[in-house]
Amino acid sequence: MKMTSKQLRQNWISFYESKGHKNIGAVSLIGDGSTGVMFNVAGMQPLMPYLLGKPHPQGKRLCNIQGCVRTVDIDSVGDASHFTFFEMMGNWSLGDYFKKEKTAWTFELLTNVFKLDKNKLCSTVFEGNSSAPRDEETANLLKNLGIKPEHIFYLPKSDNWWELEGTVGTPCGPDNEWFYPLNADNPNPVFPDDYVEIGNDVYMQYKKTESGYEPLDGKNVDTGFGFDRMLLFLNGLHDGYKTDIFMPVIEELEELSGKTYDNGGEDQKAMRIIADHTRTAVMLIGDSQGILPSNTGAGYILRRLMRRAIRYCKQLQIESSAMLAAARIFIEDIYGAAYPLLIEKESYILEEIKKEADRFEATLAQGIKEFEKCVQSIERKNEFMSKSNSGYIKETVVGGKQAFRLYDTYGFPLELTEELAAERGLTVDKEGFNAAFKEHQEKSRVLAAGQFKGGLESHSQAATNYHTATHLLNAALKIVCSPDINQKGSNITEERLRFDFNFSRKLTDEEVKEVERLVNEQIKLNVPVVLKEMTLEEAREQNFVGVFSDKYGEKVKTYSIGEFSKEICGGPHAATTGELGTFKISKQENVSAGIKRIKAVLTK
Ligand code: ALA
Repeated sequence: MKMTSKQLRQNWISFYESKGHKNIGAVSLIGDGSTGVMFNVAGMQPLMPYLLGKPHPQGKRLCNIQGCVRTVDIDSVGDASHFTFFEMMGNWSLGDYFKKEKTAWTFELLTNVFKLDKNKLCSTVFEGNSSAPRDEETANLLKNLGIKPEHIFYLPKSDNWWELEGTVGTPCGPDNEWFYPLNADNPNPVFPDDYVEIGNDVYMQYKKTESGYEPLDGKNVDTGFGFDRMLLFLNGLHDGYKTDIFMPVIEELEELSGKTYDNGGEDQKAMRIIADHTRTAVMLIGDSQGILPSNTGAGYILRRLMRRAIRYCKQLQIESSAMLAAARIFIEDIYGAAYPLLIEKESYILEEIKKEADRFEATLAQGIKEFEKCVQSIERKNEFMSKSNSGYIKETVVGGKQAFRLYDTYGFPLELTEELAAERGLTVDKEGFNAAFKEHQEKSRVLAAGQFKGGLESHSQAATNYHTATHLLNAALKIVCSPDINQKGSNITEERLRFDFNFSRKLTDEEVKEVERLVNEQIKLNVPVVLKEMTLEEAREQNFVGVFSDKYGEKVKTYSIGEFSKEICGGPHAATTGELGTFKISKQENVSAGIKRIKAVLTK
């Protein structure tokens, strides 16, 4: 039965509500860290503790539609069926109903609500192994519901067992998968070639251990049906970008580029990549735990996606601002109703996309030139060597140092260089890249240490005083605002200090006054600033704080100002606090969510 994405959302939730389920809504896309999985990759992930037995505040029957991010396939995005973001329609029984009700409800939803032909449905169940028995029970239930016996297949663990890869202590079990012919008009579809999986019901009765599986006390059901997949398939479509989720964005890209999506080829691939990656970027930046592009963790994945999308904008000969147009459509027309936070954060999301685009634009063209130079030098070498040596084996690898230069100077994620290389039939020396990366880190460490030393002579008295005032400020903030505050950045000129720290809001006027008072009190007391060298371990034991402590060598310099402030630091510092003058906070700024900035001055 044809339906819009909005109707599908509605149908899923209202069907399970009619069976006594509570809609628990979606949570953040970012994993909670408990499993080591960076993003939520399945709807059950946030429910893990409850599937393991903890009572859920909303009861034993739950449903929702949960966004998920899977990034293993980034390089496959560009075809008709791979996406980095998708939504999973889910419902759960937490130790409540089991196979009988679940098979009946899935069957009812598919045949009554979605109007699929029961004679065409295929279903697979677990064939059994030493961990769990063959699932005859589910097979019999399916037969009684009206699934043709010849449409029920027993398959091994590789097909019909669901667990969260790479984790331990997580719930898992055999599953019952549901299939329908991709082409509904096919008179004689053959399983599995002509079929697509539309979803599965996992019977979570086991817990994954280091060595195998152990039975759980409760019997749970974990259902997951792919939202985008279902939408595609209910509407008789074969291209994941032709649903009402993507079409408005694809049409916008067609208009901006003057190219036609249906012509296929590289232009079509570029439009798909831009659309998919922009959607995921919107979802990640607009998430409740909003992340921003960076060089580590989830931020790096986001950066990689955005930079890849920007490169494909170039290929399509459109400005990267096309991503803003696409983002606006996703936020306002497609997802805003289901994810109100996106509407709330719209201007922030657009701004962050633009910032990253501007950052990358600034160096992209130069970086690509640089990359071309590498390729040319490989080609020249190959040409020259094969002329003079008939047994010569051609060079096909871009050096790790060169890849690192592209990363460091031009902001090219390694994967982007690899992709550019692949287009030219080359690979990249990853190990060499990692080695260059390490070497660079080491060099910056040495350089940073050296700068402090050299800085001592060249630093003016004013800048030295600001260094010391920064320590006092850091300590005062911990006392007045939160002991969890840490330095996130610092910059000192002869005129002022600038201090970035983790805190969720601006300081109130009272807090500002109190911080100033504490700092000025220390100044009036004219406390000596004491330098001591010790090992990192000793410094930690004595409660010295330090921002970049892991970058220091064995022995570190510590500075204490009485018991008020104790920091690991390279210096330089004033001899006593009495030299500083009067401390005043001149400005507060927002650096990003969770990071605040204070500027302060010292006057005589
Ligand atoms: N956890 C199951 C899945 O992700 C439902 O497919």
